[in-house]
Amino acid sequence: MNYTDIEKTAVAEPCAASMILTFRAIGYNLETAVADVIDNSISANAKSVWFNSEWKGGNSVITILDDGCGMTEEELIQAMKPGAKNPMDERPEKDLGRFGLGLKTASFSQCQKLIMVSKKAGFTPSYWIWDLNYVNQTNRWELIRQPISDDYLHALDNLESGTLVIWTNLDRIIPIETSIDNESAKDKFLAQMDKVKQHLAMTFHRFIEEKSIKLFCWEYEIKSWNPFLLNERATQAFPEEYIGEAVMKGYVLPHKCHLTEETYKNAEGANGWGNQQGFYVYRGKRLMLAGDWLGLFRKEEHYKLVRIQIDLPNTLDSDWQIDIKKSTARPPIICKEQIRSYGQKVRLRGVEVFRHRGKILKTRKQDDFHPLWLEKKQGNKYLYLVNRDHLMIEEIKKMAETAPKKAIEYLLRFVEETIPTKSVFIRESEQGETAAPFEETNKDVLNAMIKQIFDAQKVSGKSTEQIKMLLLNMEPFNNYPELIEILDTYDR
Ligand SMILES: Nc1ncnc2c1ncn2[C@@H]1O[C@H](COP(=O)(O)OP(=O)(O)OP(=O)(O)O)[C@@H](O)[C@H]1O
Ligand SMILES: [Mg+2]
Repeated sequence: MNYTDIEKTAVAEPCAASMILTFRAIGYNLETAVADVIDNSISANAKSVWFNSEWKGGNSVITILDDGCGMTEEELIQAMKPGAKNPMDERPEKDLGRFGLGLKTASFSQCQKLIMVSKKAGFTPSYWIWDLNYVNQTNRWELIRQPISDDYLHALDNLESGTLVIWTNLDRIIPIETSIDNESAKDKFLAQMDKVKQHLAMTFHRFIEEKSIKLFCWEYEIKSWNPFLLNERATQAFPEEYIGEAVMKGYVLPHKCHLTEETYKNAEGANGWGNQQGFYVYRGKRLMLAGDWLGLFRKEEHYKLVRIQIDLPNTLDSDWQIDIKKSTARPPIICKEQIRSYGQKVRLRGVEVFRHRGKILKTRKQDDFHPLWLEKKQGNKYLYLVNRDHLMIEEIKKMAETAPKKAIEYLLRFVEETIPTKSVFIRESEQGETAAPFEETNKDVLNAMIKQIFDAQKVSGKSTEQIKMLLLNMEPFNNYPELIEILDTYDR
């Protein structure tokens, strides 16, 4: 661009004290903040990452140590600088970064003091500190060095190279005045650590499964959480489909009845089955969005078995509008229709499995299947009819000749146990209404039923008015007052 016509310039530097505080408001939670720091470890080729916390009341500490390539002192200062890299720069395929900000924004979202110790192979370790209070007081973009615990200084001694991130003054997690003896605050803190573990198990599951990284929390190795239940025989996988450089792969997870209780519970993840449905968007194998329909569909109970993987390379960051936290993505408008139609296919299969418990297998001939309920479309409403040809219904008819009471009881039980609630629910929420009782069927039967009750009540001595009142309060006849009104005509 040509700037030859500039007459004057004015410096408009950001004000350090207020700007650094805005970094706190990017919207991370503890889990997403820790994951953002671990992204850097993975980009630095770490083989192991240790996520630890130490309860000390308001002085509690969270640390993230990696054995990645580490940094020289100069590189460390550069790394701690906001906007350390240009978001437009091309990055290596495995680099999980984009904005040159994550380390700072993630850290400040949780703590007031970020200490970073790093060692590059062949160099001595160095460390620097960002202290929000110091920046606030001095209004200067200045890192500081103060004495730190020997434990932190020597944390890298046994590693050839690596980096240690320390968060202290965790004011966003624990009020600073909290006493170390406050057991309930301690329990809450530990519960948050558990949530972090769960989030890391999901976010980095592909790295863990490929054995390219080991994540530890205290001495425990974190096991991966794979959303797609790939080891389950009943999981249905769809063929991959490309959207430019991105790839989609859909899965319909097995119906609950094909999973052990433990697997079912575990597969619901942090947010429950209903919420975990949707697209799982990965960027360089790192999970960014876990169960989101990208604004293309709504989350509904009957699609809860549907999970679709989308893999993005980091070259699509700007097309997919990746955010600093790496927690949102928006598909480019031109891809939306393709994604929607792929999603639709997988969702249709998902709903079938949900409704029929996965029992209608592709290999089974349609004629072999004996449904009890038949779905029929009448106008724009749906009716559910009992299949009169069902073998059990035929048996009940025969039974009625010799043991009518038992036959009726069998019939009622059979209907009660099998009412197609799921199908009705799906029709109601998707296509609008299902038909009300007798709404779409021949009224002769309904009339005959009303007449039957009328005659029987008359014999027992009730007046026509009394019987009308009785029927007006009786389901399903109360929906047809016009048929009850004309009962007087039977008297004449
Ligand atoms: N654990 C680490 N090991 C080695 N280098 C690191 C580590 N953490 C950060 N760095 C260096 O610091 C830079 C800045 O990190 P930061 O997380 O702020 O931004 P980024 O990763 O480049 O991009 P993003 O804002 O998308 O996270 C990184 O690009 C990397 O060069
Ligand atoms: Mg980063």
